[in-house]
Amino acid sequence: MGIEKLVKDAKVIAVICNQYGDTGKGKFSDYFASSWADVTARGTGGNNAGHTVKVNGVEKIFHLIPAGISHDSDGKTTILGNGMVIDLKVLNHELDELEREGNTFDNLMISQDAHVIMPYHVSFDKAKNQSQKCGGIGSTGRGIGPAYTDKIARRGITVGDFLDKDRLAKKIDKVIEFYPNSTAVKEEIIEILGPYFERIRPFVRDTVTEMHKFYRNGKKILLEGAQGLLLSVEYGTHPYVTSSDCSLNGTSTGVGLSAKMVDLPFGIVKFPFMTRVGGGPFPTELGGERSEKYCADERTKIDELKEYGIKYSTKNGGVQYDTRAPGIINMMNSDDEFVQGIGIRLAAGEYGATTGRPRRTGWTDAVAAKYAAGINGPLMILTKADSIAGAKKFKICHGYLGEGGISTEFSRDEKFLRRARPVYSEYQGYGEISDARSYSSLPTSLRIAIKDLEAFTEGRVAIVSVGAERDETIVRD
Ligand code: IMO
Ligand code: MG
Repeated sequence: MGIEKLVKDAKVIAVICNQYGDTGKGKFSDYFASSWADVTARGTGGNNAGHTVKVNGVEKIFHLIPAGISHDSDGKTTILGNGMVIDLKVLNHELDELEREGNTFDNLMISQDAHVIMPYHVSFDKAKNQSQKCGGIGSTGRGIGPAYTDKIARRGITVGDFLDKDRLAKKIDKVIEFYPNSTAVKEEIIEILGPYFERIRPFVRDTVTEMHKFYRNGKKILLEGAQGLLLSVEYGTHPYVTSSDCSLNGTSTGVGLSAKMVDLPFGIVKFPFMTRVGGGPFPTELGGERSEKYCADERTKIDELKEYGIKYSTKNGGVQYDTRAPGIINMMNSDDEFVQGIGIRLAAGEYGATTGRPRRTGWTDAVAAKYAAGINGPLMILTKADSIAGAKKFKICHGYLGEGGISTEFSRDEKFLRRARPVYSEYQGYGEISDARSYSSLPTSLRIAIKDLEAFTEGRVAIVSVGAERDETIVRD
């Protein structure tokens, strides 16, 4: 059956990432929120996420609030689910910014069961200094890990706890002893966070019950994933992961539904290149360990543009440059894989939306995609193929060469992944594809690579994105 018909008939759709995050969940959350959903809900993570949405040339980055919020005035509901961890100050800022842009919040709901990222979580996360540079996992330092730790240890503070000041004070008293180095004082915490909570009080609900009502009433529900399968605490490359289960399963749990209720789980795969930000194994990384170290070195986009002599300008704090500059194309076609990786990063603008860090780049790993499909299901959305226009060739990894020969199965074991030598299939590069609106008009070599990916993963590529804008999207028959 054609994908459009499947979408039309679906009750629940999920948009999740099948790699290491940053694959375009923002674009597709907005895509389905604007054209299909009545309700958009997020179930995992916090402001470690950075979801970029581009509408009519204007780029917007969300950290906590699902992209569906732009459709609040159309009567569509937006939910921050029970599985999320919420920094009240960051949420306030995001609401203020949206309000300034004219957004309404008539249909916004925030779960009373979501846990709150407290000031001592943030300072603890930063103090651990698990920076990539020091060989750590390269956490975003937003307090995500400590907040989930307290949740699992059954001492965490929920949004609902703020409804009862006495209960809140008692809970803070109990938890603060686990943070002996924190300078935070209970009274101060309550004083600082109080006004932030008051701002969100009108939106606090039992969102699990609300979700069940929406489901029973036949509303169309969209689940917006955060992070990616390979960063899941359950299925990812532990310990180089985030602290929530950002698979389809965890995302469903995080909004109060069963994964079985999701009719169409779309796993997003960046193709034919992929990225990782932070530390951890990444078998297909261009430039290997050298690139991992280089990216850990806290370089900025400007440092990189300067280093490689690419012209740029700055405006309102942003950096502008021509992603198709001949210098960048030459880098993508360099014989030196390390330089090639930087070329792809510059061509595709792969710098963290949350931290600004350079994202590590490499060819798409179909072995990892097959593993992800085993958990998130066979349906895939491919993104970012347009970004490497001008590269003379591209590769896809269809196996790992290790001590025991070629393996076509992924493993979460760091040692295995670090030793794995990718076995590639090579394809001819292509030019601009952003104007393509039908699958048959995509370059032959790209279609061959997609067919190979489908055969290898036993998956189905449902949608191909050819640009950041909503209409730069090809839905397959
Ligand atoms: P979106 O939703 C990419 C990575 C961090 C680090 C590890 C743990 O935009 O795809 P944490 O702060 O969660 O304790 O960091 O996980 N990480 C992400 N990488 N995209 C994300 O979110 C990420 N959220 C966390 O870089 O390696
Ligand atoms: Mg992101």
